[in-house]
Amino acid sequence: MGEKEISKAVIKRLPRYYRYLGELMDSGVERISSGELSKRMHVTASQIRQDLNNFGGFGQQGYGYNVQYLYEEIGKILGLDKRHNMIIIGAGNLGQAIANYENFETRGFITKAMFDKNPELSGMKVRGIEVHGMDELEDYIVSNDIHIAALAIPKAGAIVVAQRLVNCGIKAIWNFAHTDLNLPKDVMVENVHLSESLMRLSYKINSYEQEHRK
Ligand code: NAI
Repeated sequence: MGEKEISKAVIKRLPRYYRYLGELMDSGVERISSGELSKRMHVTASQIRQDLNNFGGFGQQGYGYNVQYLYEEIGKILGLDKRHNMIIIGAGNLGQAIANYENFETRGFITKAMFDKNPELSGMKVRGIEVHGMDELEDYIVSNDIHIAALAIPKAGAIVVAQRLVNCGIKAIWNFAHTDLNLPKDVMVENVHLSESLMRLSYKINSYEQEHRK
């Protein structure tokens, strides 16, 4: 595997390659050409070749890509060959939906516990995952080797909670709260805003309608 810097645009596309390759493996496909992959993924074959060349050329000319090898290598680049213990802060609708999604575990993301400031939720279990009070947060993180915290609380409390997480060593935050967290550079934050995605869809609807009104 080459040591060269991979562009953010390529990294952003890797999960999609990973998903398609996983589906190919499930259906017993062992090799695939860039042309065939391009048809399935609706991207150009040259884009696929360019993207995958970043990793030292997984394919052989005229022979196609080895699906399992490519899947495993992309998994390693994405860190999916490792196990990440995760906690969820906020055990409301969103927190519970994340906890209920068991497929994250197959990718190595193990939800160990949930936390909520509402004492009425303490002790509740979602798919066997227990909700704890916020007073247990720091001790839990330190004693359970937690790598990732998902923030599923309103923006009002998010910055204070994020700071508490960072103070006890959390370096990766999956942020659903509608606010920028402005944390130190060594803390990785992935913001997820479903409403922004919906707005992009709305833009597409708008553009399509304008185009077809002409
Ligand atoms: P909800 O009201 O069902 O649950 C929020 C939970 O967070 C409650 O149980 C509450 O007690 C807890 N909470 C609030 N402040 C807290 C704090 N400082 N520390 C610990 N626990 C705290 O709300 P829902 O639907 O689960 O949404 C949660 C947040 O996520 C909302 O603010 C919403 O705007 C945001 N959200 C973001 C989405 C995204 O795509 N980024 C999508 C859906 C919701």
